[in-house]
Amino acid sequence: MSALLMAIWFNGMTPEETTILTLAMRDSGDIVDLSSLPGFKVDKHSTGGVGDKTTLVIAPVVAACGVTVAKMSGRGLGHTGGTVDKLESIPGFRIDLSRDEFFRIVKEHGLAVTGQSGDLAPADKKMYALRDVTASVDSIPLIASSIMSKKLALGSDGILLDVTVGSGAFMKKYSDALKLALAMASIGNSSGRATAVLVTDMDSPLGNTIGNALELAEAIEVLKGRGPKDVREVCIELAASMLQLAGKGSLPECRAMAAKVLDNGAAYAKLCDMVAAQGGDVSVIKNPERLPQAHYKYEVRAQESGYITQMDAELCGIASMQLGAGREKLGDTLDPSAGIVLMRKTGDAVSKGEVIAMLKSNDQQRFPAAAETLNKALKIGSAKPKLRPLVLARIGVDGHVEKFFDEN
Ligand code: URA
Repeated sequence: MSALLMAIWFNGMTPEETTILTLAMRDSGDIVDLSSLPGFKVDKHSTGGVGDKTTLVIAPVVAACGVTVAKMSGRGLGHTGGTVDKLESIPGFRIDLSRDEFFRIVKEHGLAVTGQSGDLAPADKKMYALRDVTASVDSIPLIASSIMSKKLALGSDGILLDVTVGSGAFMKKYSDALKLALAMASIGNSSGRATAVLVTDMDSPLGNTIGNALELAEAIEVLKGRGPKDVREVCIELAASMLQLAGKGSLPECRAMAAKVLDNGAAYAKLCDMVAAQGGDVSVIKNPERLPQAHYKYEVRAQESGYITQMDAELCGIASMQLGAGREKLGDTLDPSAGIVLMRKTGDAVSKGEVIAMLKSNDQQRFPAAAETLNKALKIGSAKPKLRPLVLARIGVDGHVEKFFDEN
């Protein structure tokens, strides 16, 4: 296997070879059969981000538009967060649903989010360990087959992939993100799943919060038709692409549908229904100030005047992890209330001494190291930086690529 992985690293693989490998990896373990659930089931997968609370918003949006979301999500590791951890900041919320409970809730509400159980694509875990020691982790066909083997095992009819790119993402370069996006779209569509991809920016954190309960509160704001503009915009784009995969209409029609259920409360009501069905305390959704709150706060201030020209998302994610919001290694326990509230973002003007970010934790000893990391993430310059668009490219089910940004 090590020889094969190294050969693939050197020579690459054709799209056909990549799909054959992916299907063999998918078939190495359990495969979830969602076919007894009614309607078109659509899933979404992100290659990882910082402050990325989009699943918490778009799953209820898509369900409120009449498309089934039977979602199995993972936990966070390192600088990136996981949807399951964010949902667990709701007292009582269960992510360990049995198969029967999961199916019953999806049938009743069109939506459920549970943790991943079973042995999905075990070949991927073994191959990843070998990639690690043979320096073949960064092969695009191997990354694509690793991600898609697990996604295909989850059984949805349609898959929307969010390939993030930038300092906080697995893919640091736009050109590499585009290659990965194309490889994954090809695997999905040639395996009989309607697959589309958005390439989105992850140079700066998404929205104004990083950390589990903080991100959930921000997602609730967006579900109430408010919240930060960037989160709302990306969520509408992602949800619209999922609705389009389910045959709900053209992209502009699907965008309008998604915006409508955010503004008329239907998506918010879906989240409340799901939380109640999964044993969570709905009163904290209605009153997010009742979510876990950190005992201590610490202000990070601008060290000079000017414009924020950089807010390195990976370092922001690491700072949040140092506050207790993330896991350095598997099995670490989290502080659901810990994290960062960003008062200013890339492109904003700041004056020396102004508060840029508020750190939150239940352990004051964590503040100095986290503040140092966050200060490293920030660059302030004299010229207002030009920001790239949030959605950099889209690949449709037909393989058509639209680019909204050019690197040069
Ligand atoms: N995520 C995965 O699941 N696999 C990879 O190879 C890289 C990122």
